[in-house]
Amino acid sequence: MKTLTIGSQSLVRVGLGCMGMSDFYGPTDEAECIRVIHHALDQGIQMLDTADMYGPWTNERLLGKALRDRREQAFLATKFGVVRQEDGAFMGIDGRPEYVLKSCDDSLKRLGVDHIDLYYQHRVDPQVDIEETVGAMARLVEAGKVRYLGLSEAHPNTLRRAHKVHAIAALQSEYSLWSRDPELGHLQACRELGVVCVAYSPLGRGFLTGKLPNPGALSDGDYRKTAPRMSGSNLAENQKFVDELGRLAKEHGCTTAQLALAWVLAQLPQIMAIPGTTKSHRIDENLAALTVSLGASELEKLNELAPLGVAAGERYDEYGMAIVNG
Ligand SMILES: NC(=O)c1ccc[n+]([C@@H]2O[C@H](COP(=O)([O-])OP(=O)(O)OC[C@H]3O[C@@H](n4cnc5c(N)ncnc54)[C@H](OP(=O)(O)O)[C@@H]3O)[C@@H](O)[C@H]2O)c1
Repeated sequence: MKTLTIGSQSLVRVGLGCMGMSDFYGPTDEAECIRVIHHALDQGIQMLDTADMYGPWTNERLLGKALRDRREQAFLATKFGVVRQEDGAFMGIDGRPEYVLKSCDDSLKRLGVDHIDLYYQHRVDPQVDIEETVGAMARLVEAGKVRYLGLSEAHPNTLRRAHKVHAIAALQSEYSLWSRDPELGHLQACRELGVVCVAYSPLGRGFLTGKLPNPGALSDGDYRKTAPRMSGSNLAENQKFVDELGRLAKEHGCTTAQLALAWVLAQLPQIMAIPGTTKSHRIDENLAALTVSLGASELEKLNELAPLGVAAGERYDEYGMAIVNG
């Protein structure tokens, strides 16, 4: 199955994560990134994923430029709630209703659009009841500024509470062969409630492709240079796993990235993967993962290679782990 539905909209199950075009993974070229976004739309990708805090703010502006004449081809998803300063410093999480309403208006301006297709709370604010935050998000739907609501990195119980206030269309979680935590209840809750599970960093931030250069050699601004799983003794441990993944991909006649994506897509029909790339040819490669079919024996091999908790190291640093809602 190559598509799933959110509300009345049919969507190809591979989207494009745009974060790395503006932040976290080193310098990029804006004109080239716009060409990549256009190439993704040309190839039938609809879901474009951004957030106000990517840049901060520059990733939404980039999408605004890219979509100037192509808005109707995109299913535009953005997020609010992780507060950053102009210099990029992280200032905490804000889920207060007044912040929700203001953030949406600011995102609409930066994106240059009159509505957002999918509006996520990026991180749950422990100081504000989820009912209050989602209540404010629901007002955005009523006002026609937003079509569908989503949560990101929310605990299954938070999702259930939120869903009682207003239908939640999507739960975005880190999900990949080395980040299988959503299997501890998130996927089950999505299945029960009819919520689409959006798998972010499905390629392990590039590591699960086998093509990431030695993280130590990445530029200083690249988050992966110091990411727990890609530094110190964890790196060597995780490299063994990726080498084995590469061997299985060869056996299956696909690339390592495609095998990693195909595994994610095989877990549930209502999973959407949003790999990020700054290169057009990788759009084609990642989209073609939809045609890689995995039989029971291949899935078993992959599950044996990558059981829950296989990765050495946490997926985020201490601050990043502290703001995850479970
Ligand atoms: N909700 C959240 O908290 C959250 C957190 C993180 C990310 N996200 C979203 O999820 C999206 C995807 O996650 P991500 O970008 O962190 O990680 P990812 O998709 O797992 O990996 C992206 C990296 O993989 C490389 N890559 C992509 N396709 C490849 C291929 N076929 N072969 C080799 N390398 C390939 C890219 O490099 P090149 O650019 O060189 O191709 C990029 O550095 C983000 O863009 C963002 O929208 C959400």
